[in-house]
Amino acid sequence: MTGPDALGLPDGAAPRFESLQTVRDGLRDVGYLADESISGVVYLADRLSKPVLVEGPAGTGKTQLAKSVADLTGSRLIRLQCYEGLDESKALYEWNYRKQLLRIQAGEHGKGELEGPSWKELEEDIFSEDFLLTRPLLEAIRATEPVVLLVDEVDRVELETEALLLEILSEYQVSIPELGTVRAAQLPMVFLTSNNTRELSEALKRRCLYLHIDYPDLDREREIVRANCARPPRCPRRSTGRARSCCSACRPSTPPAPKRRCTSC
Ligand SMILES: Nc1ncnc2c1ncn2[C@@H]1O[C@H](COP(=O)(O)OP(=O)(O)O)[C@@H](O)[C@H]1O
Ligand SMILES: [Mg+2]
Repeated sequence: MTGPDALGLPDGAAPRFESLQTVRDGLRDVGYLADESISGVVYLADRLSKPVLVEGPAGTGKTQLAKSVADLTGSRLIRLQCYEGLDESKALYEWNYRKQLLRIQAGEHGKGELEGPSWKELEEDIFSEDFLLTRPLLEAIRATEPVVLLVDEVDRVELETEALLLEILSEYQVSIPELGTVRAAQLPMVFLTSNNTRELSEALKRRCLYLHIDYPDLDREREIVRANCARPPRCPRRSTGRARSCCSACRPSTPPAPKRRCTSC
């Protein structure tokens, strides 16, 4: 089993939740209605230090679950939005080539009469922290404060990127040839969501706890709408599609013009 000890991470990280009920009540307090299976999986993910793979149709609260867990635990939410073509340089890190080039040029122009920096000095300089662009996965690994990592719509990425994710989620470390190995200081809570547009690899599934969220029944849907109405008004586009049409109480006084893009959320 993978846990902080097995990964060589500093132990002693207290569990985030005392009990299953704490998860359920806490999520309710931040406006998310979790049933038994949702709160159970979140609780176990914390205890077992495992990522959660959340599958289900669009609009059933998969992304919101990760956001709400971040709210509940007072963690920073780091989101990796997946899309076709997402690669290591956008998911993990890349070097800031423009800045590196400028540094090289500045070295050449600035030397004047004097001897400029040697290539070795320059190389050490341009492959240092100052020239590194961190992307969500590396950011989550390097974070020292509590973090929830959301890998959203993972079914959109190609197999190679999925393999990269698997590697990161197994080791919680990243090897940057020029800088060395970066190890996680703490285990973030990780949520991967999938709309099931393609089958994910068995290896990735085995690495995660699995949660399927289906469309709610009518009573639950009413509850979700009420929970969303009880909070300060938010953009109606952010509530579930079916729910929106069934609740006259939460219809805004001035409905947004049809087909107009929402800029507030
Ligand atoms: N269980 C729930 N509790 C509270 N709100 C929910 C719940 N499920 C869905 N919602 C509402 O539906 C909206 C859409 O959910 P979202 O997480 O974006 O769906 P998905 O990621 O599954 O497509 C959320 O912003 C939230 O307002
Ligand atoms: Mg989503």
